Amino acid sequence: MRYQTKTGSLTELSTPCLITSLDQARKVAAKHRQKALFDAAITDFQDKPGKTLLVPLPKDAPVKRLLVAGGADGEVTAEDFRKIAAAVAKAVRPLNAQSALWALGAARVTDRDVYWRISTGLAALANALYEFNEHKTGDTGPGLTLKRIQVHADARSRATVQRAAREATALQTGLDFARNLGNQPANVCNPNYLLKEARKLSRLDKVKVSSLDEKRMTELGMGAFMAVSQGSDTPGRMIIVEYKGGKAGDAPVVLVGKGITFDTGGISLKPAAAMDEMKFDMCGAATVLGTIRAVAEAKLPVNVITVVAAAENMPSGRATRPGDIVRTMSGKTVEILNTDAEGRLVLCDALTYVERYKPKAVVDVATLTGAMIVALGSYASGLFTKDDDLAGALLDAGDWSGDRAWRMPLWDDYQEMLKSNFADIPNIGSPGAGSITAACFLSRFTGKYAWAHLDIAGSGFQGGAAKGATGRPVGLLFRYLVQASE
Ligand code: BES
Ligand code: MN
Ligand code: ZN
Repeated sequence: MRYQTKTGSLTELSTPCLITSLDQARKVAAKHRQKALFDAAITDFQDKPGKTLLVPLPKDAPVKRLLVAGGADGEVTAEDFRKIAAAVAKAVRPLNAQSALWALGAARVTDRDVYWRISTGLAALANALYEFNEHKTGDTGPGLTLKRIQVHADARSRATVQRAAREATALQTGLDFARNLGNQPANVCNPNYLLKEARKLSRLDKVKVSSLDEKRMTELGMGAFMAVSQGSDTPGRMIIVEYKGGKAGDAPVVLVGKGITFDTGGISLKPAAAMDEMKFDMCGAATVLGTIRAVAEAKLPVNVITVVAAAENMPSGRATRPGDIVRTMSGKTVEILNTDAEGRLVLCDALTYVERYKPKAVVDVATLTGAMIVALGSYASGLFTKDDDLAGALLDAGDWSGDRAWRMPLWDDYQEMLKSNFADIPNIGSPGAGSITAACFLSRFTGKYAWAHLDIAGSGFQGGAAKGATGRPVGLLFRYLVQASE
């Protein structure tokens, strides 16, 4: 999608589709001598957030359609504005128009500025306009005709609107990239595919991509990573993307992603129902790659390093058995009591590896535990950290972007639930609090830097009729990094 800003009076502009509030729409209709038609069309319209109405105007009118956004005149809450934007975005999708003019300036949002309104609106559009039809042959229904969104701005806010549109474009590119990676089936998206896709990012300014193969990881002592990867015929990879947009000496923010391209559970095999969804077990990896792509596209003045632990968790004659003990890169030994708790195994070695970057902060992102879905469902990602500043920054970024997280406890009490009779630590906790004990496991490998963990098992992808990767938490992380770069 291309965005451009447009200034001038709404009643003077021409467009195939004007997206605006009821009062504004009425004025535009009157100006084009369509008052009667307009009044008839809105007879039953409820002017409330979430409602929209399409009013086609006569062919010779400079505005071909009015897309009326309900509840968009006057002051609204952030929550309501999101509802308005989502409804409009959904309504715009099926239109057979090449471009549309986004003009929701009449809605002022409590405690939010123009930059937020435009960012939020364009994010809603990006979300609604996404599609993934790569593997469908034949008729995939009416394709997307919309090529361009014009964003209405008054002269005073023009620069801000321009910046918001530019960053929204970068964010959308990163989000779509993440969602595409997530939606690819595991017979396409294996660790090597993730590496190939990551390598393409080196076309961007100030981006460098490298990787570690299994031989190198074995030399480095990554026994936990290898314990997962060794069962698969497809070799694992550690993928490293560095973006140096900040000052040379500035400590980087490091993003670590769980990249299990398929999680069968290994020898602790998963049941068949919905096992296909375990192709999404690399959504952590996809989203940290999407984030660094968005940051690089936006040319944010910040240093970011993304490290992806990519492997396939398969049962085979070479697979790890429950009870096996391995040595991690940190030197700690792990008793693998359940081979389906593999995410923490690939992540712990990645978390040790990133110490070398002397990070300002490390945030890992993982579809780590089914228990996270039990706790929070799909609306919030679970946030785990002992660092209150980092928690505050990430929670704020989540609230701002609407890609929300909710903080979970990481008290020392829970560490008691990780006891092994035979090694330093087991890879699963005693019953209960499964998401927290998983985070506790990771915490044992993160002593050297400020660290937070996002469990996106519920938020990272959807099941059911709308099955697919959501791209979350790219929105949260992008906002966090915009803030960190200011
Ligand atoms: N990838 C899964 C977690 C998951 C399940 C994410 C469903 C999204 C939807 C993870 O590797 C896993 O299998 N976790 C186990 C941990 C258990 C064995 C301690 C789980 O949640 O059951
Ligand atoms: Mn698993
Ligand atoms: Zn998994």
